[in-house]
Amino acid sequence: MSYKITVNMNKKPIYDILIGSDLSGLKQALADLGYEGRRAAIVTDSNVEALHAESLKETLGDLFSELFVTSFPAGEESKNMDTVLAVTRSFLEHRMDRHDVVLALGGGVTGDLAGFCAAIYMRGIDVVQIPTTLLAMVDSSVGGKTGVDLDEYKNMLGAFKMPRLVYINCSFLNSLDGRQFYAGMAEVMKYGLIMDASFYEWIISHLYEIHERDAAVMEELIEHCCICKQRIVERDPTEQGDRALLNFGHTIGHAIEKHKNFSLLHGECVALGSVAAAFISYKKGKLSKDEYYEIRDMFVPFNLPISIEDIDAEEVLRLCHSDKKASGSGIRFVLLKRVGKACIDATLTDEDIMEGIKEIEYCEDNEL
Ligand code: GLY
Repeated sequence: MSYKITVNMNKKPIYDILIGSDLSGLKQALADLGYEGRRAAIVTDSNVEALHAESLKETLGDLFSELFVTSFPAGEESKNMDTVLAVTRSFLEHRMDRHDVVLALGGGVTGDLAGFCAAIYMRGIDVVQIPTTLLAMVDSSVGGKTGVDLDEYKNMLGAFKMPRLVYINCSFLNSLDGRQFYAGMAEVMKYGLIMDASFYEWIISHLYEIHERDAAVMEELIEHCCICKQRIVERDPTEQGDRALLNFGHTIGHAIEKHKNFSLLHGECVALGSVAAAFISYKKGKLSKDEYYEIRDMFVPFNLPISIEDIDAEEVLRLCHSDKKASGSGIRFVLLKRVGKACIDATLTDEDIMEGIKEIEYCEDNEL
């Protein structure tokens, strides 16, 4: 493997993140964790099953006494309790017990859902995250957030369930279409914007290699994001404080995702939400106008949207209030003080938030 990052909790190592460009280290890593002779379920969606399940099974060979695939229809619509019941029933049918392991193979939906199934089956069995999308590699596979949606509430049912291992095979990136790939870049930019100005500059100076999905550059980029995430989750594993900064762009982003019925990808909505949040930061006197424009325009080279047509701004605002991050004591909004530094603001009014939504609403006047 090219990189190994160890995530600690209370100064004790909890799991490793291994980053490379093939699957060759996975079998040994799983053997080292003591899974030889155990049962394993590969939980994946219908798209990823067709692309990668066979090669994963071949790689793992006879390590397990039984290795089976349980898949569900690809898409956010599957991220619910019905799918959790179907997946956990398959664990039961295969007589999985507390010593067995779930291998979550896929993007953000799969990692969240499979992790949640592992968290609740028999009060918790092990899960190994094997992300296949850029977004899952840099964000959702690390840090132990798992869960499913409840009605219009995204990720409302869930649990913190730390993986035993995160195994990142960057060559999976080559199977992503352009839209999926670039959607992950919204979360990559997030780390630069909220906590690491020099990483933000690094991204800008490696635009060409990122477009080319250059293996060495992508490994370095993913490693950097995982270190950022590691630093935050070690400090605040259950989001009592700083971890909320990772929600930059997500309050308005999630609202648009729901408003558009999941026709846009999560990362595309995060890009829109980030532009809106940067605009509000400017309006609140934290960023200069030039800084705002520079941030907004950096999403464009990654084919990410910075404005959106056909939205009902009032409805988007309503959905911001139905976001989990807003439940209870009002919206805790993440703003930027500058590139590389974010803060939480719990004092924004509906008018402030509406200004951000209006900024990204596409209309002739806002045309670039
Ligand atoms: N994706 C945000 C977090 O893990 O906290």
